[in-house]
Amino acid sequence: MPFVAGIDSSTQSCKIVIRDADTGALLRNGSAKHPDGTSVDPQFWWEALTEAASKAGGLADVAALSVGGQQHGMVCLDADGNVVRDALLWNDTRSAGAATDLIEELGNGDATAGAQAWADAVGSVLVASLTITKLRWLRDAEPENAARVAAVCLPHDWLSWRIAGYGPAGDPSAPKGPVLDALFTDKSDASGTGYYNAEGNDGAGEYRLDLLKLAFGRDDVVLPRVIAPTESGAVAHPSIAGDGTCLIGPGAGDNAGAAIGLGMQPGDIAISLGTSGVVSAVAPQRTQDGSGTINGFADATGNALMLAVTMNAAQVLDAARAILCADFNQLKDLALAAPAGCDGLVLVPYFNGERTPNRPDATGTLLGMRLVNQTQAHLARAYIEGMLCGLADGMDALTTLGVPVARAMLIGGAAQNPAVQQLAAQIFGVPISIPEPGEYVADGAARQAAWVLASSTAGGPADQPAWSTDIVTELPADPQPIIRQQYAAVRDLV
Ligand code: XUL
Repeated sequence: MPFVAGIDSSTQSCKIVIRDADTGALLRNGSAKHPDGTSVDPQFWWEALTEAASKAGGLADVAALSVGGQQHGMVCLDADGNVVRDALLWNDTRSAGAATDLIEELGNGDATAGAQAWADAVGSVLVASLTITKLRWLRDAEPENAARVAAVCLPHDWLSWRIAGYGPAGDPSAPKGPVLDALFTDKSDASGTGYYNAEGNDGAGEYRLDLLKLAFGRDDVVLPRVIAPTESGAVAHPSIAGDGTCLIGPGAGDNAGAAIGLGMQPGDIAISLGTSGVVSAVAPQRTQDGSGTINGFADATGNALMLAVTMNAAQVLDAARAILCADFNQLKDLALAAPAGCDGLVLVPYFNGERTPNRPDATGTLLGMRLVNQTQAHLARAYIEGMLCGLADGMDALTTLGVPVARAMLIGGAAQNPAVQQLAAQIFGVPISIPEPGEYVADGAARQAAWVLASSTAGGPADQPAWSTDIVTELPADPQPIIRQQYAAVRDLV
């Protein structure tokens, strides 16, 4: 009964679960906070990881681990393994202009052709979230920093590298020093960079150095080796995982991690309500959506992972609670007391700007105010309806592209609110399953670690561990078309 660990280094915190590799039973867990902000020194992630590991009782008895992480963050290293500048995260919008420029450049001045060309080349139309746009921004805004870059990686790649004992020259917590060639990653996270084609090279995947050069002006940087879903990239350094051998799995972007944690199959969609709102689906092949609504990433098992991502999800509910001075339960009671469609009150919740649709400079707007809807209940419900309508547009885009949707699983902290669950059944119009509350990204990373461990014992790719995911609530579809009709009528006015 070996133990495995799964790590979720998310935007807001680091969470670690330690599970029995055979049964998946949860043995221990721990977490630690990350600083706020969209530009963060990765050292804080390392400190949070070590704090979370110690709260989880340490990693000394763990035979394999994997790291899931927030996607897209630009981590640049110099030749000595130092971080060149704070990492720009997925929700940092300063590179929105760079995204527009790169689309036009690839389309030779034609933005529509350029958008389709990016979707064909790497699965996604560029928005500020994607790493490649951040590299263009760095080239133009901070040329001295750009010149120092010797390697570019993503948050989960950097943490796996640190766990293996690599890091800045002279740092005692990095005994193996700045060996940049030791960086490794997986297809799911590489596919969100904008310079990796997961389906290129006959499906093996390939870096698009030509696109990197177009954006950054250089392609002479070390990029992490992309390893297979069941491969181990390194072993953990004894200072982290004790004297026994602890394999480090490839890891994954957080959305691909959640897909493994949920055991998602083609036909399932996950609606995740975290800092980002994500509608995702697994399918054998990626889409190439030139409209930019759907990102065609890879998952962490060999399939494609299609995503629509909004930048306004759980924080919209935090805002509702703050403005209404309501706790979690009061927000539920208020929202369920108002009618579907809130008597015309509509929130377009672009508080952080928005990514889908691509409106990096937008702000939130409340429309349709009449005396009849000026109640706390209407306001509470309007916030939840607005948050979910943006994601329902993403689900429509998936079905338009031919991605099958048989059931939707609602996950993330906000998904535990019964008002959110009921409104999801009304707004998405499909049956909604609520799995038992859990850390699905960390769980997926642990499941990947168990898979890597079994494959290493078997001497080749083993079957995925058969851990189960319990569904605790199932709600039938309860379509209330008025909600989406009203939202669609005003969404494009703002
Ligand atoms: C996905 C995305 C977000 C981050 C959040 O494209 O940008 O879901 O991964 O952690």
